[in-house]
Amino acid sequence: MSSERIRRIGLENVVMADTEITRIDGAAGRLIYRGYDIEDLADNASYEEVAYLLMFGALPDEAELAEFTADLASRRGLPGPLVATIEELADQAAPMTMLRLGLLYLSALDDREDVDDRDLHVDRGMDILAKVPTILAYFDRFRNGREPVEPREDLGHAANFLYMLNGEEPDEATADCLDTCLILPADHGINASTFTARVVTSTQSDIYSAIVGAISAIKGPLHGGASGNVLRMFEEIESPETAGDYIEDMIDRGERVPGFGHRVYETVDPRAVILRGISERLASNADDPAIYEIAHIIEVHMRNEVGIDTNLDYYSAVAYHYLGIPDDLFPLMFCQARVAGWVAQALEQYEDNRLIRPRAEYVGEEDLAYADRN
Ligand code: CMC
Repeated sequence: MSSERIRRIGLENVVMADTEITRIDGAAGRLIYRGYDIEDLADNASYEEVAYLLMFGALPDEAELAEFTADLASRRGLPGPLVATIEELADQAAPMTMLRLGLLYLSALDDREDVDDRDLHVDRGMDILAKVPTILAYFDRFRNGREPVEPREDLGHAANFLYMLNGEEPDEATADCLDTCLILPADHGINASTFTARVVTSTQSDIYSAIVGAISAIKGPLHGGASGNVLRMFEEIESPETAGDYIEDMIDRGERVPGFGHRVYETVDPRAVILRGISERLASNADDPAIYEIAHIIEVHMRNEVGIDTNLDYYSAVAYHYLGIPDDLFPLMFCQARVAGWVAQALEQYEDNRLIRPRAEYVGEEDLAYADRN
């Protein structure tokens, strides 16, 4: 396949919207949400502040943040029939399917008419943002034969998730690590899932449908599904001494190493740099620092020998491992974080909408006649 064709069919560098939400400078390795560098937000803001920034266009002042945080926290509970459904299916449903089903369930209970009204979109978006973590935590507890832990309104978004998952309030440092892990993927321009959300929105469909479509796109191993594969790779490697040979073998077999490469970044993904620091901090307090050591060896090997850098999924997997999150929930953590971006992007699309309808170049047969078939 010619390189021009490869780029074309992957819509590489095609601009499909004007946006005020996220700017990515792939050459410089910069990610900017509404004018703020990701490093600045990761160091100083909470996930709630970043979600507000993405959805409403500016960082909240104290009163706005208090109102937003309280509103979000008050929406965390799930309707009883949905809890019963999660319990019934937790043993057999795949996590992504459970999440999509949860959102479809919420949409089935929402009998408001699907009109193009910003207040309605925001209200539904807030509900999705608040309830996704609860769906995930309840699912994980039910599938492990444990009772769900009801959300607490006095905890922040990240702390409450860990509380619902483990039944214990996390210490501040642990909650802060997760908070940063949620800020980093909160939006990322027109990646495949966000593109999907905007395409669905552009038909003037509802925001539940846009987010369910986005989750369907993020599920694949080339997008959000990579992080679980990263951890499974580390576990297969077992020891830091064999990490280099393992990767060489993968490359020789022409396989993709999960957690490396990116369509947009020509240099290191800035989110990966922050996540490396978090992973190192978490590993230094953990009983099994080998996972971090293996990760670091592979990172250096891939950069020096193959010339490819880590992406978001790589050190997310390490951080989530040390935060005690099961590996099949890693992609769901990505969803949990990205909901803010998907909602923001859907709101922007509704605001200045034109149906997204690209074309394909027809390269098939011409002028066949039914009577001449065989
Ligand atoms: N391991 C080994 N080689 C790679 C990798 C990798 N992970 N990624 C890219 N390459 C090579 C690829 O083989 C190709 O080499 P050549 O030109 O010799 O054939 C070259 O780099 C360019 O690859 P590409 O497939 O044209 O690049 P792309 O922009 O289509 O793919 C990607 C981007 C993310 C799908 C790809 O890098 C990949 O498959 N990575 C592994 C899966 C992964 O980690 N996904 C998470 C993406 S980051 C989170 C997100 O934003 O969704």
